[in-house]
Amino acid sequence: MSAKSSQYNNITVEIEEDIGLIFLNRPSALNALSSGLMTELLKALNEFQADERIKCIVISGSEKVFSAGADIREMSNWTPAEALRQNNLGRFDLLKRISKPLIAAVSGYALGGGLELAMACDIIVAAEDAKVGQPEINIGVFPGAGGTQRLTRTVGKYKAMEMILTGNIIGAKEAHGRGLVSRVVPNELYLIEAKRLAHEIASKSPLAVSVAKEAVLKAYESNLTDGLEFERRNFYLMMSSEDKQEGMKAFLEKRKPHYSGK
Ligand code: CAA
Repeated sequence: MSAKSSQYNNITVEIEEDIGLIFLNRPSALNALSSGLMTELLKALNEFQADERIKCIVISGSEKVFSAGADIREMSNWTPAEALRQNNLGRFDLLKRISKPLIAAVSGYALGGGLELAMACDIIVAAEDAKVGQPEINIGVFPGAGGTQRLTRTVGKYKAMEMILTGNIIGAKEAHGRGLVSRVVPNELYLIEAKRLAHEIASKSPLAVSVAKEAVLKAYESNLTDGLEFERRNFYLMMSSEDKQEGMKAFLEKRKPHYSGK
């Protein structure tokens, strides 16, 4: 079953059974991430976060473009005070509050803030002709929504430096080879594959999925000792969950588990 919402101007939102779908939809500006678009994206994400039916969220654009980045027209008028007041880039951090898995389904360009948005997601599925990069240097600035940090942690210092200092764009296959996307599929399958993965994840224990997501993210933000401690402590906490009882019982009874998320 699929439901659509028309309360937005810059995105479209759908619910397909147990997954939420958000499509960036500003074709005239190649899905540039204007303040208006960011406001709507965060609103839709928060609504999916609060909706118990939704277990996993896919963010996508169109076949032509995921997103060409921050809105250059809007930014061209910014003063530092205006940039701070709007804090459009700080809003990328709000994605951290979404405990449900976020899958970016990328086709066409994911540039600048567009790639940074994809990198702020948990899994990236890319069409084989997708093109990703941080071209901000070409317009006299540099990545401001996580690119210097997330790209460097993902592809390493030397490739990140090359991409950020030259602004050169790379293809999905190279991005995949460097661990920058989770999987590359034929162009016509990128959304189908992202949805397939989302439904697959949605069939697992929502509680275990959200704690697992938090634990993997800890690997970015803490040292190994703290990360391992977080993992172990939360693994032990899982022992009191109904989902753990159900998952292990179902395995022993050779049947499919039915998770309550508790
Ligand atoms: N912001 C605002 N408008 C944009 C845009 C952006 N990031 N990218 C494209 N557009 C607009 C163009 O101005 C154009 O509008 P008009 O038709 O009104 O002139 C329309 O979208 C179509 O764009 P093009 O004609 O350029 O399309 P193309 O197919 O020839 O080229 C492209 C596609 C290579 C993606 C090219 O549009 C491009 O280089 N875009 C800019 C990419 C970029 O520099 N992104 C980084 C932005 S800064 C940033 O993201 C900072 C950060 O870290 C958060």
